[in-house]
Amino acid sequence: MKITVVGSMSTDFVVTTTIKPNQGETVFGEKFATAFGGKGANQAVAASRLGMEVAIAGAVGTDDFGVAILNNLIENGVDVACVERVTHAESGSAHIVLYDNDNSIIVIPAANNEVKPETIKKFTQQLLSSDLVILQNEIPQNTNEAIIDFCWEHGIKTLLNPAPARFIADEYIKKVTYLTPNEHESAIMFPDQSRSEILAKYPNKLVITLGAMGAIYHDGKKEEIVPAFEVQPVDTTGAGDTFNAAMATALLQGLKMSEALRFANLAAAISVQGFGAQGGMPTLEKMKEQSQYEKTWHFK
Ligand code: RIB
Ligand code: NA
Repeated sequence: MKITVVGSMSTDFVVTTTIKPNQGETVFGEKFATAFGGKGANQAVAASRLGMEVAIAGAVGTDDFGVAILNNLIENGVDVACVERVTHAESGSAHIVLYDNDNSIIVIPAANNEVKPETIKKFTQQLLSSDLVILQNEIPQNTNEAIIDFCWEHGIKTLLNPAPARFIADEYIKKVTYLTPNEHESAIMFPDQSRSEILAKYPNKLVITLGAMGAIYHDGKKEEIVPAFEVQPVDTTGAGDTFNAAMATALLQGLKMSEALRFANLAAAISVQGFGAQGGMPTLEKMKEQSQYEKTWHFK
């Protein structure tokens, strides 16, 4: 099955600290490291490790970071033929502070902002050959909208992971096949509606992720919570990306929504036990080694 991710690619600059500095205060932290990130790249790598045929479309700069980003994608089996190298912007980056039980992130999109609607022309063939196209909110909104329109017109399934949060018109929500906000993102997208109202409005499409609680959706008759697996996290960065890629993979493999979300929860639980967004992302083999892996999850 073929997945195309149209999205961001970044270098993550990760600082680990136990003390949160107050405004104007300087503190000593523990560690610094760089890691591969960007929600688009993370989701592409996660889906590839789970056995999908994956391509990514997007942009990096001509700097060394861009070279490293592309090499990492290639090493993870992701096709990068549709990635542009732009001369007028640096490669994207994310500046992450890891605290004991949470993190905060500042994203500098840079080249990721150069993925303009008209660039779609360069990879329409790639989109047309895809079983599913995955989008996030780290490239411009009008590009996402153009891709959603294109896929809708050509009957190609889409998954929009609306992270970080931004408002999108109803028309596009109707056109996407799957929509996966977390609670915070869903509150911004649907400001005046209760969680139950929106779940019932978009059965088997809207999946709201609940962090350590798992995920919730409406199956057409009732709401269903699919609980997360309990683990001791090392680094939760990229857990959502792993979840989205695994959910997409499982759905393309024919699993029904509740099972796809269980599979996604398991992949995410494994991913948080490794450092960096991509560090802990499991391969399909690793998934199969887990005691929680179901024999009924038949993967082609
Ligand atoms: O979802 C995690 C990702 O978000 C990180 O890798 C970082 O790049 C941020 O954009
Ligand atoms: Na991780």
